[in-house]
Amino acid sequence: MRKKICAGNWKMYKTSAEAGEFFDSILASLKEKPNGAEVLIFPSALVCESVAKSVQGSAIQWGIQNSYFEAKGAFTGENSAEVAKSMGATYVLVGHSERRKIFGEVDSFLAKKVAYVQSLGLTPMLCVGEDLSEREAGKTNDVILRQLDEGLKSADTKKPFVIAYEPVWAIGTGKVATPEQAEEAHVTLRERLGGLGESTRILYGGSVKPDNAGELASKKNIDGFLIGGASLEAKSFLQILSSL
Ligand code: PGA
Repeated sequence: MRKKICAGNWKMYKTSAEAGEFFDSILASLKEKPNGAEVLIFPSALVCESVAKSVQGSAIQWGIQNSYFEAKGAFTGENSAEVAKSMGATYVLVGHSERRKIFGEVDSFLAKKVAYVQSLGLTPMLCVGEDLSEREAGKTNDVILRQLDEGLKSADTKKPFVIAYEPVWAIGTGKVATPEQAEEAHVTLRERLGGLGESTRILYGGSVKPDNAGELASKKNIDGFLIGGASLEAKSFLQILSSL
């Protein structure tokens, strides 16, 4: 059985004080009503220290939204995964579509990050997903399989990694993939992973909300969610978590 994951991607939102309020609610609610899924938040880098304090001693994990593939050095503006690890991070998001589109990160660059993150004993969460023109041109599978193959090119497949399928046209648009579209992509990715497919968690992301989470979660190959907008409110995050 693959353990489900409910992950929140906070992007560049929330102050430390707002993060603290979020965890006060989440921790209180999980104490009352524990959930078997892994709960994970990706705060923006400047908020990580306060998040680390908030979740200390609880089962909630956190990770960084991006890292470089060196421990230290002259890389102005970058995040060190090693420093994040020393603060208690367990995950690193790699290749979110906003990193690919806005910051020009390409597959070969992302492959180095995946391998580096694994070498530290952290778990990379590699994001893949087609944009609207690619879907309309019937290229969805070509795109997501290329991103998967290239992203994992230097990975140690004996070490953990997680995949997030996030169709770009569904991110922040309110346009969610149908459960069938998502399941189809997840099956394609899982099959490509061969022998690793059965144990690899593949999350869906893109406009996941309390009212669509249940149907998506009912699909056999959807192992949880990477949630943007709806992870900013404790109430909606908890509602989505309860669908898993
Ligand atoms: P969204 O974002 O849930 O706001 O669409 C998902 C993501 O970017 O990971």
